[in-house]
Amino acid sequence: MINALRGMKDLLDDDGKLYKFIIEICESVAKNYGYEFCETPKMEETGLFKRSVGESSDIVGKEMYQFIDKGGNDVCLRPEGTAGVVRAFLEAKFDKAGGVKKYFYHGSMFRYERPQRGRLREFHQFGVECFGESSVYEDASVILMISEILNKLGIKATLKLNSLGDSDCMPKYRQKLIKFIEANKNELCEDCNRRLETNPIRILDCKKEHCQMLLKNAPLITENLNEECEKDFSNLKEILIQNGIEFEVDPKLVRGLDYYCKTAFEFVSDEIGSKSAVAGGGRYDKLTEFLGGKPTPAIGFAMGCERIMEILKQKEFAPKRDGIYICALDEKYIKQIYSLGFNLRKKHKVEISYEAKSPNKHLNLADKKLAKIFLCIGEDEAKNGEIWYKNLENRDEKRLSLDGLKGVL
Ligand code: HAM
Repeated sequence: MINALRGMKDLLDDDGKLYKFIIEICESVAKNYGYEFCETPKMEETGLFKRSVGESSDIVGKEMYQFIDKGGNDVCLRPEGTAGVVRAFLEAKFDKAGGVKKYFYHGSMFRYERPQRGRLREFHQFGVECFGESSVYEDASVILMISEILNKLGIKATLKLNSLGDSDCMPKYRQKLIKFIEANKNELCEDCNRRLETNPIRILDCKKEHCQMLLKNAPLITENLNEECEKDFSNLKEILIQNGIEFEVDPKLVRGLDYYCKTAFEFVSDEIGSKSAVAGGGRYDKLTEFLGGKPTPAIGFAMGCERIMEILKQKEFAPKRDGIYICALDEKYIKQIYSLGFNLRKKHKVEISYEAKSPNKHLNLADKKLAKIFLCIGEDEAKNGEIWYKNLENRDEKRLSLDGLKGVL
């Protein structure tokens, strides 16, 4: 037998329902914030991710599904969604047109990681990207959007917030940090020493206790911001407080992708292993320029759907009942319920049973299929031109004329 690849999962039955449920909530919230659907290919030129996510990042350096296609092109399955949406934005020349564009997307991302709970090789993200808006109010809106989505899903998570500065203050801070780290170089782990050469800021993110201890007195970016970044960061904090969003400033939050500047954030939850990020994002004002377009401020986030699903499953998430189950107790009424079901399908989700069964068998099936309304015709109903109606949510039950049925559906 052939099984799914390690770290890749099917979304069947309850998992499929749960995924759809999450996406529908994300979509409805994102639409209210003025975002529109977009979809970009799952495969792109490898160079796109090398240049945007960064060659020194683990995502590009270790985790990409990269190969040479039959035409000799160096391609890879997308490890994240931002780079593809930026590429599409530039290819459509929207950078030249100016104005604000806001997109949301969802779908598979691929990272060759070590699979574990909440960490897959193919996983799904819901994400948004906003182009052309430099106001810090949009940074706040993106965070408020995630917070609203999590509230609607009944998930509690802690917001960790940082500012990574801009192309003026970040390089100066980086030099300060390198100076500090070089003095402690011999005591840092192998990974940190490698990062010192490639991307020293990522050292702040090292999970090893000994490294964290050494980094206790390291200079912090939040204390080295220039006036503009400092002003934006304090404004953002004020807007969040004013709108009831709690957060922790974490000056060591650096994110695993190189394109960020200024605002960077993660929502972390303890519900699937220690401090796992359920969503993350930030500003990337330099990326369009870096990929050959006109300078365009941008901000976005992505949420890990499987991590959200894991949390909801622990809470014994019960998918909502919906739709109609229509059936007959005798073979001879099946044509009638089939036509009735066919008409009802113009407005409702309808499951038509093609077989006559006992009332209990039908009721059990309707229950299993999570139908909300049960409709059935037996001998008595047929004789009186009626139908047996039962609402499986509130248990309301009655016999209705076929005309009367229209009134309750
Ligand atoms: P990211 O932090 O790499 O950001 O991923 C976003 C979310 O995807 C994470 O918080 C996590 O919930 C989920 N995730 C990441 N890796 C895995 C995995 N192997 N298995 C399951 N879930 C995972 C980005 O991808 C950026 N593109 C976000 C962004 C959009 N920034 C600006 N715009």
